[in-house]
Amino acid sequence: MKHFLDVADYSPAEIQDILDLAIRLKKEYFAQGNPPLFKGKVLGMIFQKPSLRTRVSFDMAMRHMGGDALYLSPNEIGLGKRESIADVARVMSGYVQVMMARVFEHAHVVELAKWSSVPVINGLSDFSHPCQAMADAQTIIEKFGAMKGLNVSYVGDGNNVAVSLMHIVVMLGGNFTIANPEGYDMPAVAIETGQKLAAASGAKINLLRDPHEAVKGAQVIYTDTWTSMGQEEETAKREAVFPPYQVNAKLVSEADKDVIVMHCLPAHRNHELTDDVADGPHSAIFPQAHNRLHAQKAVLARLLEVA
Ligand code: CP
Ligand code: NVA
Repeated sequence: MKHFLDVADYSPAEIQDILDLAIRLKKEYFAQGNPPLFKGKVLGMIFQKPSLRTRVSFDMAMRHMGGDALYLSPNEIGLGKRESIADVARVMSGYVQVMMARVFEHAHVVELAKWSSVPVINGLSDFSHPCQAMADAQTIIEKFGAMKGLNVSYVGDGNNVAVSLMHIVVMLGGNFTIANPEGYDMPAVAIETGQKLAAASGAKINLLRDPHEAVKGAQVIYTDTWTSMGQEEETAKREAVFPPYQVNAKLVSEADKDVIVMHCLPAHRNHELTDDVADGPHSAIFPQAHNRLHAQKAVLARLLEVA
């Protein structure tokens, strides 16, 4: 049995296969609806943080394919507080066929997977956001046909979303550039994994400070919040450091003319992303959010071994 904790746990061929399935399931959904491949299957969703996209897209993914989903809020199960993670994992394994967890510490979702006898999906941790990366890659591939040879430039905080994006982009042969302020680099271990994946695919990783240099020749500009969930006490400090990294019309005009602008959402409008760009002709933020549904159907289908 496999879990879905990080894209880098999978081979490029496996990730490509899941993405191909996502694109096929999306077409099928809009043509005639998906068959009930998840009939009799329930996804248990453990949330230690808020969510719109992850919660609703996973729930709908299960429903569209004949299954069901159960939402457990941060106040309910007290993962690791009311009860140990190992006990939660073993109890839940007897009730549901697959689990998804959104946690603070990455080690917690790893621990859940270690003790679970059903597949566990990382629905965002402080380290990574692999489900987001799947939807992001699907969006990029749908727009440009393939990832190979594209220049994907991330501008902002070297956070969980940046890490998973870097891994999936270079794994599939795209070049990944990040421009972030000093002190907000991606974790060294994530960069090291990225370098290995890039070496295998022939892609390049560029680690920069200057957002203007980063977006030159980019087909994709990506940004995310300057303050992630769990970092709220650093908000004022971050709001002082990050303004030069705002994705605005001027920055977008310095990229490839067909550039798409992406953001995992929720967006803090006119902070990391200006309204004119978010709602302008280059924006892919809503198709990207919608692709969470299709990409996760494919992840679930592979973990449940039904497609
Ligand atoms: N992008 C994303 O994961 O959104 P939510 O936090 O709303 O789930
Ligand atoms: N980096 C953000 C992503 C939210 C989907 C966070 O962790 O809060």
